[in-house]
Formats: sequence, C-alpha cells, structure tokens
Amino acid sequence: MGPAMMTNQPHEALEALFNLAEQAAKNAYAPYSKFRVGAALRLSNGEIVTGTNVENVSFGLTICAERAAVVRAVSQFGPQIRIEAVAVANLNGLPSPPCGACRQVLAEFIAPDAPVVFSSAEGKRTMAFSELLPLGFAMKLQ
Ligand code: THU
Repeated sequence: MGPAMMTNQPHEALEALFNLAEQAAKNAYAPYSKFRVGAALRLSNGEIVTGTNVENVSFGLTICAERAAVVRAVSQFGPQIRIEAVAVANLNGLPSPPCGACRQVLAEFIAPDAPVVFSSAEGKRTMAFSELLPLGFAMKLQ
C-alpha cells in the first residue's frame, strides 16, 4: 500500500474529485496545444475549487489548470487555505501529472501526504504529494 492510500481518504471521494477535474477541463482555453486540462482541489474548509488551462498567443504566458485552481482558491477563500487533495484530468486521453512549476506552487498550500490523482498511462494514478515533489524549494533548512 503506497503512501497515498495511508491518507485515509475514501477512494470514492478521490474519484469524485477526478470527475470534477474532467468537467473543468471542458472549459479549457487551449486553441494552440489543443490539450485540455482540468484540476480540482479539495480544501480543508470542505470547499472544492476547479481550474483549467488558459493559453495565450504568447505561449509562455499560458497558465496551467493546477495553478489556475490555486489562484482561484486563494482569491475566493483567502491566504489560509489548505489543500487536502488534488485531481488533474485531461480530455486528450494522455498522461497529465502536474508539471514541475505547478508542483512548486501547490507546495505552498498542501500537506505532504495529500493524495494527487492524475491521468496516467495506466489510467488513473494516485501519489502522495511528497512523492511528486520530494525536494521542493523552501526558505528554510530541509
Ligand atoms: N498544462 C496544464 O494545464 N497542466 C500541467 O500540469 C501541464 C500542462 C497545460 C498547459 C498548456 O496549455 C497545455 O497543457 C500543453 O502544455
């Protein structure tokens, strides 16, 4: 049993979060890559916040679904939010683990053992956040 299964979150809850990420992906603005991504965050206040990727013709300005969700969560509920679980889905049938930049942004608000479920080659895969970002940058001795 991997660390993600030790977080004591019912499988159905993560499944439901993943479904919400899939729904969110339908709103993606991805005219350039055509890769439509959705993210769903479950917060410790019980709220669920979703996000989608928003691309830009100046490609580097694109924001990923995960970061869009984090920005939305803080904007809606304030700086004290804690993320308990993350789901990332795409409508392209491809693997979509959160990119490195999004992992570092999630790190700011997430517990190390929070489960992250994402589309993978084997279907869905769940990992503890600390497995995805074992040595993220922090302004303290690790
Ligand atoms: N993308 C995400 O939304 N999340 C990720 O973690 C990786 C990539 C988006 C950005 C861009 O719009 C498209 O996927 C292709 O890179």
